[in-house]
Amino acid sequence: MAPAPRPPSHLLPSVVAICFLSLTFLLCYKVDDFAAQTKTVAGHNLDPTPWHLFPPKTFSDETRHARAVKIIHCSYLTCRYATNNATKFPFHSAVSAPKCPEFFRWIHHDLDPWARTRISMTQLEESQKFAAFRVVIVEGRLYVDMYYACVQSRAIFTIWGLVQMLRRYPGMVPDVDMMFDCMDKPSINRTENKAMPLPLFRYCTTEAHFDIPFPDWSFWGWPEVNLRSWREEFEDIKKGSKNLSWFNKFPRAYWKGNPDVDSPAREELLKCNHSRMWGAQIMRQDWAQEARDGYEQSKLSNQCNHRYKIYAEGFAWSVSLKYILSCGSMSLIISPQYEDFFSRGLDPLKNYWPIPFTNMCESIKHAVDWGNTHFPEAETIGRQGQKFMESLSMDTVYSYMFHLITEYSKLQDFKPTPPPSALEVCTDSLLCIADEKQMQFLEKSAASVSSVPPCSLNRGGSDIIYSWLQQK
Ligand SMILES: *[C@@H]1O[C@H](CO)[C@@H](O)[C@H](O)[C@H]1NC(C)=O
Ligand SMILES: *[C@@H]1O[C@H](CO)[C@@H](O)[C@H](O)[C@H]1NC(C)=O
Ligand SMILES: *[C@@H]1O[C@H](CO)[C@@H](O)[C@H](O)[C@H]1NC(C)=O
Ligand SMILES: *[C@@H]1O[C@H](CO)[C@@H](O)[C@H](O)[C@H]1NC(C)=O
Repeated sequence: MAPAPRPPSHLLPSVVAICFLSLTFLLCYKVDDFAAQTKTVAGHNLDPTPWHLFPPKTFSDETRHARAVKIIHCSYLTCRYATNNATKFPFHSAVSAPKCPEFFRWIHHDLDPWARTRISMTQLEESQKFAAFRVVIVEGRLYVDMYYACVQSRAIFTIWGLVQMLRRYPGMVPDVDMMFDCMDKPSINRTENKAMPLPLFRYCTTEAHFDIPFPDWSFWGWPEVNLRSWREEFEDIKKGSKNLSWFNKFPRAYWKGNPDVDSPAREELLKCNHSRMWGAQIMRQDWAQEARDGYEQSKLSNQCNHRYKIYAEGFAWSVSLKYILSCGSMSLIISPQYEDFFSRGLDPLKNYWPIPFTNMCESIKHAVDWGNTHFPEAETIGRQGQKFMESLSMDTVYSYMFHLITEYSKLQDFKPTPPPSALEVCTDSLLCIADEKQMQFLEKSAASVSSVPPCSLNRGGSDIIYSWLQQK
């Protein structure tokens, strides 16, 4: 029998080549297609939050395909190989934790709406309507489900903070499922949601809202306005505060910021801009100009040369409070409507001077005149403000996050599991998806394993909180 004719030997490589080419083509096409459906913490393939619109994000990656490869690489491949083998409970059991600052008691107040009913999956799903993303932590690994993009780099830096906390306290953070919004204004009205309080984390709250305050992104950095991590900024501001002795500081009240943010307090404050008449100097911050000039004029450490510094809320609470209090000048705080997690620990006339909204200019003038005739008292109030901020070290911030999350987790009446659409996020995946500037800021605020346990949380104390509320 004659052997079957063999195919010409040159055909095989051609077939293989054609197959390979079409496979590559298909793969490239699939990668692009797949990447276009992947939502990232940087905001890829996400719409802005509908309750607070902002211009859609743009990404400067070179080509569509390069971006697609980056998205796939950072989202699906980076955390897979991250090891999680740090020792549990790394500190010596003999090391006893110091007591937490008094303001940690607010954790119990913030979670009180769920103390009896607990938190159900139904409530969580309901609060998703107000959330930009969901964070699920299971066995020390963190998963994120993105619903909307957050303005600027808020989402990356907030999630980075959580990932660093996991690094700091390995094996200690319980399993949780949390909804976050990243825009400024609280949304869960206590009256309207009385029947079913919805748990939602955000950067600030009010007494009329259920929103649970959580440390904001700027503790890890805010690259868009060139603000470094809180640790770096505080050190520099403290140094800057020593440039002039109290006696040599300008005997005026100073404010510098953006008045065009739909803030009633700031609009009113503009009217007080008269050194002689009101003792106040109100300066406009032009961020576009600052960016062109390399942020020389906006350096916070150069803004501690006045005896009095004014704090005025922005669109809601403002991250500037912590920098203003750090100057060691006497802070004049215009009665805030919003509170963040730490501002509730401030004591009027002990570490700041309260300014009512009505008669604002007269009140500023009165504070300045009082301070200029009560030297040691005014200086002491300023120093106490700075001391309060010094005690808010990153150690304290991580302890607060740890306790808030731990207490919250005890209220869940279900076992947290990441939803199918959630992706794991870790230190490397965040550095991977960040742009160059963000990456530099993130790296500087990385945490390492703590050598001391978190501070020990003060129990209950609803009577103490009640008396604080009465004083307000
Ligand atoms: C995990 O273990 C590997 C191999 O033993 C080691 O090289 C690495 O440094 C460890 N990682 C951590 C975070 O301890
Ligand atoms: C909460 O809702 C009630 C009832 O709709 C309304 O009167 C009140 O102004 C709302 N509070 C806030 C802070 O928006
Ligand atoms: C406030 O007054 C000073 C001095 O007159 C002026 O330089 C500054 O631009 C004024 N600030 C605002 C916000 O108009
Ligand atoms: C230090 O104080 C002087 C005023 O005597 C001022 O001109 C200078 O800008 C200040 N430097 C810093 C870093 O704040």
